[in-house]
Amino acid sequence: MQRRDFMALGAATLASGLTAATAADTVPEPRATHPEMLTQKPLAFDPKKLDGISEKMIVSHHDNNYAGAVKRSRAIEEKIAALNSSVNPFELGALKREQMVALNSMILHEYYFDALGTAGAMESKLKRMLELSFRTVGEWENEFKKTALSLGGGSGWVLLVYNARIKRLENVWSWDHMHGLWDSKIILALDMYEHSYQMDFGANAKGYIDAFFKNINWDVVNARIGAIA
Ligand SMILES: [Fe+2]
Repeated sequence: MQRRDFMALGAATLASGLTAATAADTVPEPRATHPEMLTQKPLAFDPKKLDGISEKMIVSHHDNNYAGAVKRSRAIEEKIAALNSSVNPFELGALKREQMVALNSMILHEYYFDALGTAGAMESKLKRMLELSFRTVGEWENEFKKTALSLGGGSGWVLLVYNARIKRLENVWSWDHMHGLWDSKIILALDMYEHSYQMDFGANAKGYIDAFFKNINWDVVNARIGAIA
């Protein structure tokens, strides 16, 4: 039995109390896989023109680490879709964990790359929101950079997010693609995995963080803030 049949069967049985055999044909189709959505986005800037970040490193990061996350996401989705009803919960659980890691890695990398390329400047709405949330833009930047530095030599992300529950911006420490402040919109994402800086900076995480700030595309960041009501 294919997974979709298995899911349909379970949903029908729960909903109606009918036996599995009679319910199978009466329920709607479950969700399909969408491998066409799991495709790699190209870099939106000229990788030769970053300031202090080499073309070799950024292209390698994009074509190997990010592309790998996209491929893993697709492979895991296909694997889960092909499961049958005899799958053990721990086998499914392991795949679901890997699915979350791969999908989050793909998404976070897209926020990271999309906001690189040096353009524009911080606009008033973002400034105002940073001041309301952190007192000053400088205090936000200091906290963001120090949170990033705390991940140097480790693995994780620093995210500036707008959270709808607490209605303010917050810097989020995000480890292994897995941590997040739920109900948040990502405004800026900084990759602190070693693959994102070791080629150019070695162990100098601070040098990488400073270079990242020099290369921010503020037009993209402003647009993300602009989309928040
Ligand atoms: Fe990365």
